[in-house]
Amino acid sequence: MIKIDIITIFPEMFKGPFNVSIIKRAKEKGLVDIYIHNLRDYTTDKHRSVDDYPYGGGPGMVMKLEPIFRAVRALKKEDSEVILLSPSGDLFNQKLAEEFAQKSHLIIICGRYEGIDERVRTIITREVSIGDYVLSGGEIPAMVIVDAVVRLIPGAIGDPNSLREESFQWGILEYPHYTHPRDFEGLKVPEVLLSGDHEKIRKWRRKEALRRTLLRRPDLLQKTKLSEEDISFLEEIKRELREEVKNGSCNSES
Ligand code: ADE
Repeated sequence: MIKIDIITIFPEMFKGPFNVSIIKRAKEKGLVDIYIHNLRDYTTDKHRSVDDYPYGGGPGMVMKLEPIFRAVRALKKEDSEVILLSPSGDLFNQKLAEEFAQKSHLIIICGRYEGIDERVRTIITREVSIGDYVLSGGEIPAMVIVDAVVRLIPGAIGDPNSLREESFQWGILEYPHYTHPRDFEGLKVPEVLLSGDHEKIRKWRRKEALRRTLLRRPDLLQKTKLSEEDISFLEEIKRELREEVKNGSCNSES
C-alpha cells in the first residue's frame, strides 16, 4: 500500500483523472490511498494567501513557504519522499517511477506562479520535472507521476504479463501492435502475426521494436543492454535499410 499526499491550490483539477480506469481500481483494491490537500487550508491569515511579491522586485508572484512548510510538517512521516514539481527538477523517467513505486509514502508539492520561495527546497527530498517545457503548474505533472507509479504497484494492472513485457521492453521502444480486421482498405496485418508460430512472432516483435528504436530513438540503444540476438537483428536491420536506400524506397519502417 502506497499513500500519496498531493498539495495543491487547485484540488478540483484532480477529480477526473484519479476516478477512472487503473487508478480508480487501485484505490478500490486498497493498493493506493490518494489524498488531495488544499494548500489554502494550511494558511493562517484572513485572505488565505499562498503567494506574495518577490523580494528584490521583478514581475510575478512567488509561492510563500509557510503554508507549504505547515502542510509538509503535518503530513510527513519518517520515510516520506517529499517531491517538489518544477521545471528545474530531475527529469522523470521509468526508472524514477519504479523507484517511487517502492516507497510507502509520497508527498507531492505542486508549484504554481512564477516560482516558489527557494527555502522550500530545504524540506524536500526530490525535485522532479516531467519534461523540458514550462507548464502553468505542477498539477498535471503530479497526475503524470501518479499514473506512472500506480500502474507499477503489483495488482494494479489486470494482466501482470503486460507489465512484465513492458518492463523487459522499456529500454527500447514498443513493437507494433495490430488487432482486427486483418485487412482494412488494403492496410494488412503482417502475415507472421497470423502464423501461430510463437517463436517466430517473438523474434519479429523484438526485431521491429529494435528497428523502431534505431530509427526514432537511437540514443536508447546506447543505454540498454542488448543480447547477441539483438545485435544480429540490428545488423540485419541496417543491411535492410541500406538496401532500401539503394532501391530508393522512402518508407524506412515498412
Ligand atoms: N511545473 C511547471 N512545469 C513543469 C514541468 N515541466 N515539470 C514539473 N513541474 C512543472
